[in-house]
Amino acid sequence: MRIVIQSDASAVAAFAAREIANQVAYKPHSCLGLATGGTPVGAYRELIQIHRTSHLSFANVTTFNLDEYVGLTANHPCSYRTFMNEHLFSHLDIPLNQTFVPIGDASDLVTECIAYEERIGLAGGIDLQLLGIGSDGHIAFNEPGSSLGSRTRVKTLLQQTRIDNARFFDSMDLVPTSAITMGIGTILDSKAILLIACGEGKAEAIAGAAEGPLSASLPASSLQMHPCVTLVVDESAASGLMRADYYRMSERERHRLEVGTGQ
Ligand code: GLP
Repeated sequence: MRIVIQSDASAVAAFAAREIANQVAYKPHSCLGLATGGTPVGAYRELIQIHRTSHLSFANVTTFNLDEYVGLTANHPCSYRTFMNEHLFSHLDIPLNQTFVPIGDASDLVTECIAYEERIGLAGGIDLQLLGIGSDGHIAFNEPGSSLGSRTRVKTLLQQTRIDNARFFDSMDLVPTSAITMGIGTILDSKAILLIACGEGKAEAIAGAAEGPLSASLPASSLQMHPCVTLVVDESAASGLMRADYYRMSERERHRLEVGTGQ
């Protein structure tokens, strides 16, 4: 696991945007896995900037979002589809029919989950998956206790997750109780993973993900199993890491030697 500690949230956003842009520049037909939540917003803003200033095209990119609330229509103001259209897709040259978000109001949710997995497979799998992290260590909506081999399915949301996400809704009662989410197994199938986290509220989850035991109780710890994961965190989110000095040294070595150390 490579752990990159940045000074603040804007440096985390810039780093993440550069990684995504590099992936698309290297492989214009990339398949990107995308995330929602407050943390990726800055990275998407930076990516839009790069698209405009460097003329980086997303015309051949395919994207798959991690999750969607059950019961919300695609055009619901709080759906993750609306979030992605507003914060990213409408600002890029990507055709909307190359962007996939699970259909939260599908009449048959089980069929939708199976179809989502198939669509990812048909697209050749995800080249780079962007992740945030919940305060309890969840990734996508894989709540603590999720099977480490899980695939796309419906998960009931923990009350704490609903409270954390209530800020996007008019009231707590309106926060859905379930979501369709890629599974941990689905996420681990991605060729590379980039997890971003900012703020003290994420410090415990980040420490568990990077340095805790591998456990379904902290879903992000499953990333320890993957050969190509980068965690990019600001100083506050890094504040619980025991080996922070080592990670900083490892980054300096990486730049000095110009090789990919640190996984
Ligand atoms: C939700 C999303 C996750 C995201 C998490 C943290 O639960 N399903 O993908 O990582 O929120 O979001 P934020 O970045 O707003 O803290």
